[in-house]
Amino acid sequence: MQRVFSGIQPTHGIHLGNYLGAIRHWVRLQEDGRYECIYCIVDQHALTALHDRRAMTDNTYEVAAALLACGIDPAKSVLFVQSHVPAHAQLHWVLACVTPIGWLNRMTQFKEKAGRDRERAPLGLYAYPVLQAADILAYRAVLVPVGEDQKQHLELSRDIAGSFNRKFGVDFFPLPEPLITGEATRVMSLRDGRRKMSKSDPSDMSRINLTDDADRIALKIRRAKSDSIRGIWYDPENRPEASNLLAIYAALAERPVAELEAEFRDTLFADFKTRLTELMVEKLAPITRRMREYLADRPHLDRVLAEGAERARAIATPILEEVYDIVGFLRPGRRET
Ligand code: TRP
Repeated sequence: MQRVFSGIQPTHGIHLGNYLGAIRHWVRLQEDGRYECIYCIVDQHALTALHDRRAMTDNTYEVAAALLACGIDPAKSVLFVQSHVPAHAQLHWVLACVTPIGWLNRMTQFKEKAGRDRERAPLGLYAYPVLQAADILAYRAVLVPVGEDQKQHLELSRDIAGSFNRKFGVDFFPLPEPLITGEATRVMSLRDGRRKMSKSDPSDMSRINLTDDADRIALKIRRAKSDSIRGIWYDPENRPEASNLLAIYAALAERPVAELEAEFRDTLFADFKTRLTELMVEKLAPITRRMREYLADRPHLDRVLAEGAERARAIATPILEEVYDIVGFLRPGRRET
């Protein structure tokens, strides 16, 4: 069985973009049967941006609830919180020692997030992609489902794995492959089809949250930006809003865009929105209902995550021990034979 690993940051306001762009693919891999799936809520990564302890706690529960509500099944996948498994931070250090600074200087996400005042950017933000490599390599995972924006980080993970192997003359870490997730990976804002759907958009009307009920979904689709052209087809250059809604429809219906273009060739925008609302409510209402149930039962979430962490540790700890052997660290209490 091939081992799959992926991570998601605990941020407030999990939305349709997260579901269609990532979580849905995680569920699909889990159900495929050919993979051993390990899914991690990366709170240590979130700490690079967030310094509010209440928000950290609440968001971690929120993301756990969202993953379960969307169909991640803790009996089939290993679901856990990064800080519960010390091997990530421990392996991070070893990998940091085989990663040239020059590689990190090329990371576009760091440049964007650090902004102009790079001197004041935290070390953690700079080291972020090394911790990401440690997440993956702590399980010697080979397949990593991620969005387009994580491609560069994945390439770095491969380079770091290769660097470790070369430096110590071993063939220990497999080089992980990104699995770039397909259609409707980029779900755009409902108010501006040229911008990504994002939790940081000040307008809640720009996104569908996984906590929105049916009425709120209907309202947001009704108010979504449209154009006055009859018929719906995919042309993101000239009709970004129509294209976005069509791509969302296709992803939710699990049907190809071309087939839907034929179906909606003469449909009025308003009528298309009615159809989209029906479909979205049908698909999302069960998720949002389960999400609210999970959120109301934190002791249950605690139990699920504790079990997941135990299973994750059972995989990662022996791998870390091998790494420690490879680099020559002494093991406490063990005699050389
Ligand atoms: N950086 C990823 C993101 O922002 C999250 C992440 C952390 C991740 N560790 C990972 C993704 C390991 C895949 C594998 O989306």
